[in-house]
Amino acid sequence: MIEKQKSTTKTKLLNMIKKKEVVVGIIGLGYVGLPLAIHFGQKGFKVIGFDLDTRKINMLLHGESYIKHIQMELINEMIKQKKLDVTIDFNRLDEADCILICVPTPLTDKMEPNLNYLLDTTKMISENLRVGQIVILESTTYPGTTDEMLLPRLEYNNMKVGQDFFLAFSPEREDPGNKKYNTANIPKIVGGITPACLEVASALYNSITQVVPVSSTKAAELTKLLENTFRSVNIALVNELKVLGHKMGIDIFEVINAAATKPFGYTPFYPGPGLGGHCIPIDPFYLSWKAREYDFSTRFIQLAGEINVSMPYYVIEKTVEALNKNEKSLKGSRILVLGVAYKKDVDDDRESPGYIIMKMLLEKGAIVSYNDPWIPKLKPSRKYNFHMESTPISPEVIQKMDAVIIVTDHSTYDFAEIVKHSDLIIDTRNATKGINEANEKIVFA
Ligand SMILES: NC(=O)c1ccc[n+]([C@@H]2O[C@H](COP(=O)([O-])OP(=O)(O)OC[C@H]3O[C@@H](n4cnc5c(N)ncnc54)[C@H](O)[C@@H]3O)[C@@H](O)[C@H]2O)c1
Repeated sequence: MIEKQKSTTKTKLLNMIKKKEVVVGIIGLGYVGLPLAIHFGQKGFKVIGFDLDTRKINMLLHGESYIKHIQMELINEMIKQKKLDVTIDFNRLDEADCILICVPTPLTDKMEPNLNYLLDTTKMISENLRVGQIVILESTTYPGTTDEMLLPRLEYNNMKVGQDFFLAFSPEREDPGNKKYNTANIPKIVGGITPACLEVASALYNSITQVVPVSSTKAAELTKLLENTFRSVNIALVNELKVLGHKMGIDIFEVINAAATKPFGYTPFYPGPGLGGHCIPIDPFYLSWKAREYDFSTRFIQLAGEINVSMPYYVIEKTVEALNKNEKSLKGSRILVLGVAYKKDVDDDRESPGYIIMKMLLEKGAIVSYNDPWIPKLKPSRKYNFHMESTPISPEVIQKMDAVIIVTDHSTYDFAEIVKHSDLIIDTRNATKGINEANEKIVFA
């Protein structure tokens, strides 16, 4: 009897997915959830996007974008055609057959996983859960989250996983701003709590991209953390070699580019002013936290973290040294920070090393301004208390500066012009390479 019900619920959902009759509910319409909602809509699914943030929902409903690289025309058209609906009303969760969770998974001040957003969302889902739904977690998290934290909260009221409802983990691998890879052509890793959960989740994602099934939700969770830990460790390696390169008089970018000509066994990573964004500075610590439960110390993560965290300090050290050579002290110097987005051509400033650099400059008495074409204003946050607006750059503004620090090499910057009018450039991105090789006013940091 149970077997029959199990296969009927599953078969019904699979059929609905095949015919694109399922409603896809996406919780959290940020950098991950919004593109995902568009993508499911483009593939012919009806989508409901849920978010707590009324400002974001209102903006979407008024045809305004809050993420630079997302085309509003697509969203407007989908809303007009009733393919996409966005709401703050979580009672409507029962309208969705497939619920995808894309809420933030940050760290606490003590560098421990902060699952508050996820647990709040799970509570709202459990209050609305009905037979025949699949819940898929996409937020990055430590191995065990889906079956230890989500499953017990959802599997109550006689609702049985793999039978009445389905539960899976499928990490989001979106790289905002990447022109080559997006939700449509990045394969989806999928792990289910039961084989039926895996089957349903795979069927859903198969309708939008290529699926890579794995044996469990834990394996899927660890896959995502392996990918991001790999990046963090390799970035730390080149950051360390950059510092050595400066001491030895060797240009690390030249070395990396030369090494990258090897057709196998090497992947280039580039140094910078420190890690930024919602993923690489955070995700590895989800794993090291969980590893402690097994009396296991993840030494690579720790070391990479230490090196990457030290990079903004290195930038300050190089700035002080360079100003000294110009017979100036950092205190009282006018410093312009170029770029506070965590990487080029995006409007995402989460965990930006630019802010750590600005904070240290201010603490040391510098007169700091910044420019970022994508981040016009800095609002006070949990970590920083900046009240600043982006300074428009012009030859006159740059000429007034004692130093310009290039933190983010946005494509809109004309670095030749910036070099021409500056007294001193601290370049953390190799952005001025080739402009004037013998230029003594450029310091690579
Ligand atoms: N940004 C990336 O490049 C990226 C890439 C891969 C994976 N991820 C992971 O995806 C997840 C989401 O990241 P993001 O960058 O999209 O975050 P984000 O902050 O841009 O978006 C999250 C959204 O969730 C909303 N939200 C928070 N709590 C909610 C709740 N209880 N109910 C409904 N909505 C809620 C917020 O208002 C926000 O709009 C994180 O786990 C992140 O690690 C991010």
